[in-house]
Amino acid sequence: MSEKDLISSDINAYIANQAAKDTLRFITCGSVDDGKSTLIGRLLYESKMIFDDQLSALQKDSSKFGTQGDEIDFALLVDGLAAEREQGITIDVAYRFFTTDKRKFIVADTPGHQQYTRNMATGASTASLAIVMIDARKGILEQTRRHAFISSLLGIKQIVLAVNKLDLVDYSEEVFNQISADFYVIQKEHLKFDHVQAIPLSALKGDNIIKLSKNTPWYQGPTLIDWLESVENAKMGKGLLRLPIQYVLRPNLDYRGYAGRIVSGVVAPDNRVKILPSGVETVIEEITSMDGVLDNAEEGASVAVTLKDEVDASRGDMIVEAGAPAELSDQFRVNIIWMHEQEMIPGRSYILKIEGGTANVTIAKPRYKINVNNYERLPADVLELNDIGSCNISLDRNIVFDPYEENRTTGSFILIDRESNSTVGAGLIRYALRRASNIHWQALEINKTARSEAKSQTPCVLWFTGLSGSGKSTIANIVEKKLHANLRHTMLLDGDNVRHGLNRDLGFTDQDRVENIRRVTEVSKLMVEAGLITLVSFISPFASERDSARQAMGEGEFIEIFVKTSLAEAERRDVKGLYVKARSGQLKNFTGIDSPYEEPRTPEIIVDTEKYSAKECAEQIISYLVDNGYS
Ligand code: ADX
Repeated sequence: MSEKDLISSDINAYIANQAAKDTLRFITCGSVDDGKSTLIGRLLYESKMIFDDQLSALQKDSSKFGTQGDEIDFALLVDGLAAEREQGITIDVAYRFFTTDKRKFIVADTPGHQQYTRNMATGASTASLAIVMIDARKGILEQTRRHAFISSLLGIKQIVLAVNKLDLVDYSEEVFNQISADFYVIQKEHLKFDHVQAIPLSALKGDNIIKLSKNTPWYQGPTLIDWLESVENAKMGKGLLRLPIQYVLRPNLDYRGYAGRIVSGVVAPDNRVKILPSGVETVIEEITSMDGVLDNAEEGASVAVTLKDEVDASRGDMIVEAGAPAELSDQFRVNIIWMHEQEMIPGRSYILKIEGGTANVTIAKPRYKINVNNYERLPADVLELNDIGSCNISLDRNIVFDPYEENRTTGSFILIDRESNSTVGAGLIRYALRRASNIHWQALEINKTARSEAKSQTPCVLWFTGLSGSGKSTIANIVEKKLHANLRHTMLLDGDNVRHGLNRDLGFTDQDRVENIRRVTEVSKLMVEAGLITLVSFISPFASERDSARQAMGEGEFIEIFVKTSLAEAERRDVKGLYVKARSGQLKNFTGIDSPYEEPRTPEIIVDTEKYSAKECAEQIISYLVDNGYS
């Protein structure tokens, strides 16, 4: 009995059938005119996933707006759904569901416009297969190469090369063979697919979608649906158990369950497992889910497990196969897909989120970026929107991971900007770098506490930020003199001076300013370790780097002082004559003119240099130090 008949005769049997079927996730790629929407519409139609009312609306719309005469224009259906759904979502990927007697399908429809990389990356990271759509009249285009490359990078192993619109080239076998041959050459030289299945199609006319077409007698199959139904479904993580703990369940003293969704592999009672990051080994006792106690559970299932030993495992830890555990590291070689208009700046600190934890990360200058149209490696200082680059990254702590090649879930991460909190990039771990782990932190007997006690003071950083000409250095100077007169041990780091020595190689691009502040942060950290009250006077225009400096210091050690002066006033003063030069174009990237200054939102101290003299501002700072126990 077909599924459609089952729905009306035995709904329970139908539901049971559905639950037993596996799900193939795939993406379609190609440009808008290659017939992507028409193909998806056709698949939904053939699998009867269009409701009757949608169908009659579609027939009406097709005759009104369609491009296909009296025939149904399936593209209208899919594009109509897309327009509805795309409102209010930032990532432009629509997931559509359909089912046949053998399998369920989820197709991620990734629009082929501007944001292609981001959208594709989102849809492709969980897909088993990609349908690469090609217009038979045009053959392989730049966009085909680009989409095929991204699919390959994201670990898709199965490709359907859908040579579409064959009706427009008289169902020519020659055209089909030529396009297939062209693609095999690219596959052999640059891509890593396990299998490429070329199928001659007309999505519009329905050729070779579910039935072999009389129009292509030279093609013996499979049809598209045949292939989608029988192709092997990709397993995450080579089937090795990875179960991140999302909650610890403790309803009573006798039960301690660890709940989470199985990312990959299978779990069964008596399996030996390891808890990461601690590395403690134990054995699975019982597995439960919404359906009660289970004999075993696999990839995708949400379960709670109990363990035979009392181990210390908590939210954020991962339960893994004891014989083949995930790894731990804090330095990696990765591929990064940049997704934000604001470019990736080497040296800036971002937040990295991965299944195995969250960490602060800095990205080194890219080793290269890839021209996705011809697969060339290009030198790059930064990554811009849609760029794909190879980089080394460094985290402030160890995280649990697998290389992406081995597990697409535990091997991929996202990057979040500290300031805006938005996702700016996505990454794939290639492998861990072992460098830093060879250098051990040397524990010193005379430490920061001992050094500060000898000086009878509480060390801290007084971080002066503000426009050029705001008065940072003048005020910092007066503050240091006063502290010095009180027998405090101090050091003043001034932008102009440090740029003569340690930072003499740096200019004023965003990238150089980030590096400038990174270095001075490290130096001031050492000064605080030495027990000194450290005054830092740098424009430090970016909130992100000031925040990193704050993170680098201990609790209460970072005092941000916003030296507030309007641009008009700083320009009027123009002590060094630099504003005049910047206005006349002789000086590029000048802060406030053609380079941004991000005001601190919650500084410890704001001194207003338009209302008060430098001396009064300095006194305000000294009072703060006295009131808060620093001096
Ligand atoms: S920061 O932006 O990287 O923090 P920093 O404080 O080190 O800047 O250096 C700023 C000083 O460099 C200014 O006080 C000014 O004297 C000088 N300078 C030269 N060119 C520029 C420029 N394009 N933008 C800002 N300051 C500049």
